[in-house]
Amino acid sequence: MENIDFKEKLEKYTKEITDTVLSFMPQCNDLHSLLYEAMEYSVSNGGKRLRPLMIRESYKAFGGSDDKLCYVNPFMAAMEYIHSYSLVHDDLPDMDNDMYRRGKLTTHAKYGADVAILAGDGLLNLAAETASKAMVLAARNNDCEMMARTISAFDVLMKKAGADGMIGGQIVDVVNTGKTVDEKMLGFIYRLKTGALLEASLMIGTILAGADDETVRLMEHIGTMTGLAFQIKDDILDETGTKEILGKDIHSDADNDKVTYVTLHGIEESEKEVARLTNDTIPVFDRLGIADTFLKELVMSLIYRNR
Ligand code: IPE
Ligand code: IPE
Ligand code: MG
Ligand code: MG
Ligand code: MG
Repeated sequence: MENIDFKEKLEKYTKEITDTVLSFMPQCNDLHSLLYEAMEYSVSNGGKRLRPLMIRESYKAFGGSDDKLCYVNPFMAAMEYIHSYSLVHDDLPDMDNDMYRRGKLTTHAKYGADVAILAGDGLLNLAAETASKAMVLAARNNDCEMMARTISAFDVLMKKAGADGMIGGQIVDVVNTGKTVDEKMLGFIYRLKTGALLEASLMIGTILAGADDETVRLMEHIGTMTGLAFQIKDDILDETGTKEILGKDIHSDADNDKVTYVTLHGIEESEKEVARLTNDTIPVFDRLGIADTFLKELVMSLIYRNR
């Protein structure tokens, strides 16, 4: 997709999101400052910031106002902390055992696995602390509407990141590494390990904007489809991408003897499936009346991503 306007906006928005995400990272000068250093190392630089961007853009798509972004920003940061921790743990020697991430050494390669486990734990907790700020702020402001929305968004964030969400997908992924995995199980893994956080991102922005339950459900559906496409594209790039552009190790799946959509169907069929799943979201965008948004362009652009 050669769309200069989109590319410029994406670059600008990604910088803004990164600033927001980092603005909630605490500083520490005490004996445990190494923990904070490793946490910040894991979050800073290199990430595409897709999930917080999805939160902000779905909030905007459903008419969320700029003056209430103070309730949205903590969720954007929290989501990126959860995503970053999932990567730190995913890269551990006992999981995917990767040494390179976001253009630099993985957290365990730089600090050791012990510190990386704790940095991941710290980020997960920090995510809850940060998202809570939005609820506390709504209570302090006596903003009943935002109190209800932030509580509901918090519920989605925690559930989708949890045992029936991202973590649930990761466990089925790791315990079946090197084993036979069929189509049904692969779909389960992708929907949870990757899809759940994309679903949550789209739902949270939509909830904070005050949209109704049916709209939230349709956004969840867009997240499911986009998540499946995103993971299949990730599998393709693991085969066809370069370490320089991706910023992470390539051939990680093959080295781990992992069954992926690509090993089951080949590159060409996988590319087609990415496009098919993504294009299937178009009627949903239409139905929601948000066909003419940056959010839709963003989802469509993922078909052609090279990182
Ligand atoms: C990588 O996610 C892990 C997957 C779910 C495939 P991203 O590709 O969004 O990673 P960053 O945040 O840009 O580093
Ligand atoms: C990981 O999937 C998804 C997570 C929940 C972290 P992968 O293991 O394929 O992600 P990469 O390729 O290491 O980024
Ligand atoms: Mg993995
Ligand atoms: Mg991995
Ligand atoms: Mg991968």
